[in-house]
Amino acid sequence: MNPIKRGVLALCLLASGGAFAADAISLTIDTAKPGAVINKDIYGQFAEHLGTGIYEGMWVGPKSKIPNTRGWRNDVVGALKDIHVPLVRWPGGCFADEYHWKDGVGPREKRPVKVNTNWGGVDEPNAVGTHEFFDLVEQLGADAYVNGNLGTGSAQEMSEWIEYMTSDSKSTLANLRRKNGRDKPFKVAYFAVGNEAWGCGGNMSPQYYSDLYRQVETFLRAPKQYRPKIIASGGNDNDVAWSEVLSKELKKQTYGISFHYYTIPTGKWEGKGASTGFAENEWISTMARTLRMEDHIRRNSAAMDKNDPEKKLGLLVDEWGTWYDVEKGTNPGFLFQQNTLRDAVVAALNFNIFHAHADRVRMTNIAQMVNVLQSMIITDKDKMVLTPTYYAYQMYVPFQNATSLPVTLQNNPDYTAGEFKIPEISASAARGADGKLYLALVNTNPNKEADVALNIPGQTVRSLKGNVLTAAAMDTHNTFQAPNAIKPAPFTAAAGADGKLSVKVPAKAVIVVAVE
Ligand code: AHR
Repeated sequence: MNPIKRGVLALCLLASGGAFAADAISLTIDTAKPGAVINKDIYGQFAEHLGTGIYEGMWVGPKSKIPNTRGWRNDVVGALKDIHVPLVRWPGGCFADEYHWKDGVGPREKRPVKVNTNWGGVDEPNAVGTHEFFDLVEQLGADAYVNGNLGTGSAQEMSEWIEYMTSDSKSTLANLRRKNGRDKPFKVAYFAVGNEAWGCGGNMSPQYYSDLYRQVETFLRAPKQYRPKIIASGGNDNDVAWSEVLSKELKKQTYGISFHYYTIPTGKWEGKGASTGFAENEWISTMARTLRMEDHIRRNSAAMDKNDPEKKLGLLVDEWGTWYDVEKGTNPGFLFQQNTLRDAVVAALNFNIFHAHADRVRMTNIAQMVNVLQSMIITDKDKMVLTPTYYAYQMYVPFQNATSLPVTLQNNPDYTAGEFKIPEISASAARGADGKLYLALVNTNPNKEADVALNIPGQTVRSLKGNVLTAAAMDTHNTFQAPNAIKPAPFTAAAGADGKLSVKVPAKAVIVVAVE
């Protein structure tokens, strides 16, 4: 080997692997104690009739010049397929409790135009209804999670929707579905009874909601092979009463209880903080507040444990993500925000938390898939850009249906700024469905690289191979002018001559590697 090549190789090893530094963080993976399977639904998505999340962002209609398949844009669907979207929740959100499914079936030109009272007061053309939604999830190869209308709907309306979607009989509703172009029943994997019943879904108490839920659930009849798993709409970060009451009252009648938690940099709904151009105090406050997800899961799980110690019920975080002030000049009702490296780090921190609680957390749905809040994709007319959050989802694909493994971190320093203090490194490991061992590492510190010494008892680690996502600035993001400003880069590390392997995790970075 010539001396220049040797020098380059030595530099690479110094950058990404080699012997332990004295102050290294020690990370141990216990492969002998496998934990729960990380349900692929933890990587679920959410698409609401809100802003340009569905209309423009995904649905352009079959006559559009933008290349599409039966109205759904090919570029967006193609990109979403690459992150293996396991399921999509639809049609809301708050919108679900004002949505009447009969408005969205039959010839599109004859469907009624409604007002989207929750989101900007704009016209809702009902162009995307039941058949269009199922076409989308079938194009994606994903499951459908349909959210029923409890707020302004009724047991009858939900019961009829279930019959329309799932009946194989010759009933009038099943025949109407056939007339509208679908012979076989749709596969409704999940169906929720209402959304945020404590707020936009009707301002109810958990006790009142659980009585209504029991009534509605009784009438959600479907042939056994088509019967969806039914979900109860639960609480938020303010209290655990919903998890407590619903796990007691609905134990035998529900697949799981939902839970919503949004990360707001300032912690205040008035003046949430900007999506770009923020200072370090809002980087750390965002990290610190998103890490509270773990405490929320613990408290809600503990409340559920009282009534369901066998953990038959799932805690389903079917709305989560960052929520910033809307971008200047955009409709405030459209919840459009930019998406930066900070969002990717937030996503990865939450994935690591969800993995650690995979015994209870069986589904999560980030809000939302396209153009709304912490989105995967941003579009403008025929243009599309992939966000850092998209890349976090792409890097974590090997964790879908993997078996979680215990990870212990020692000597993990705190990263401190202003009033906040958080652990520098977050990690998660799992045995993938392909048999390989995967490790995810997140460095929350935007200023300092971290040295992580890897230890897997009973296994000699030779190398790590995967990807890293990082950038020079905390708010680096992709734009239509610079669509590749931030994207994953290959990452490798090799054991040193002493057989030990340490990973240099760059500042403000997410790494996912296969361990060999
Ligand atoms: O995701 C935006 C909104 O946030 C949803 O419609 C609602 O459920 C929540 O409050």
